Amino acid sequence: MPLFFGGWLNWLTGPQSTIDVAGPVAKSQLDVFYVTVWVTGIIFVLVGGVLAYATLKYKARNSADENAPPPPQGHGNPLIELSLIAASVLALVFIAVPTLKAIWYNYDVPADEKQNALEITSTAYQWWFKFEYPSEQIDGTGPLTTANELVIPAGRAVSINLRTTDVIHSFWVPKLAGKVDMIPNRGNHLWLKADAPGYFWGQCAEYCGEDHAVMRFRVIALSAPDYATWLAKQKAPARSLETPDAATMSQAVPAAYAFKNPGRNAPGWTDKFDSDPLAAWVKQQSPEAGENPVLVAKGRELFTSKTCVTCHVIRGNHGGGAPFAPDLTHIGSRTTIAAGLLENSVENMHRWISRPNEVKPGNKMYMGVPMGGGSMMTGYMKSEDGRLTHNITVSDDEAPALVAYLHSLK
Ligand code: CUA
Repeated sequence: MPLFFGGWLNWLTGPQSTIDVAGPVAKSQLDVFYVTVWVTGIIFVLVGGVLAYATLKYKARNSADENAPPPPQGHGNPLIELSLIAASVLALVFIAVPTLKAIWYNYDVPADEKQNALEITSTAYQWWFKFEYPSEQIDGTGPLTTANELVIPAGRAVSINLRTTDVIHSFWVPKLAGKVDMIPNRGNHLWLKADAPGYFWGQCAEYCGEDHAVMRFRVIALSAPDYATWLAKQKAPARSLETPDAATMSQAVPAAYAFKNPGRNAPGWTDKFDSDPLAAWVKQQSPEAGENPVLVAKGRELFTSKTCVTCHVIRGNHGGGAPFAPDLTHIGSRTTIAAGLLENSVENMHRWISRPNEVKPGNKMYMGVPMGGGSMMTGYMKSEDGRLTHNITVSDDEAPALVAYLHSLK
């Protein structure tokens, strides 16, 4: 009872609530849940009531009752038995009809909305989500690609192809739709729609290794004009600040913030985002006050010299990259980093790039990625056996420049 009424029932109204839904697919799933709860609830009350009545009415009240001979033994009552079977079948049919309707409805975008549906391909990696927009091709590089934040138009059906490159993951946006598994070597799909603009939490829902619990993402639904604006900005190459002249570059520039390591497992999300996450997201789209072109230019150099560029694409600034790492072209405009784990503040960015293993133990940026045939794409870690020699270090003195650069990428 304390759990139920104590205000800890975050799942009723919280960001991952399946009760407080925001789209027709999640609504159809909720309706099935309620039908099932009502039918089974009524059965519970009826059976429990009869049991309680019989227990109280026929209980032994004295020693004569306790030692009484058993009543005459009958062979059952065919009428009662047949009616119970009929009632059970009826209850099952009552649940089955809306369930089957919901399964059909959930399977694919309804025919009348199909023409207008937006197609997205989501690929799961240990441990983050890639989102591609096949209808938005960028010359020479393929579809528009983002990571961990899926931006969609509100009020429009979105058909999502679900893929994975490694193990089984599962795609789940509790308030919009889910959950459907992402299975190796097998195409899967789901569709969803947000009724109105909003900011929704997503989560991998299939155990997929040590960072499964922190394999998160966000879905941001925008009005049609806002979505068009976002699309145009995202398709453009990375925002580039002009590099100052050599004399200016040689000056020492203090960091714009004071970094204090919050320590292993410290939370990276604040009330600022929770109170109005969509407004926080909108704010994140614009360049930040106090941008320092010297720090940004130094960060851009560090992005290459620290070999971040080996895995991450920043379209327009750093080409190449590897297909298994998030595209960072507009990383500064995302509200989250580290696959939805940390809010994208300068302090959190500093913490993430300087101490990735303290934020998300076992992540591939730190551990490296096996490339097959025994070779490794090495990461931050330097292994005891000498096999991993990369040993990337980002000191607290270097990090502010990289942070300034990454945050300039709106
Ligand atoms: Cu991916 Cu759990």
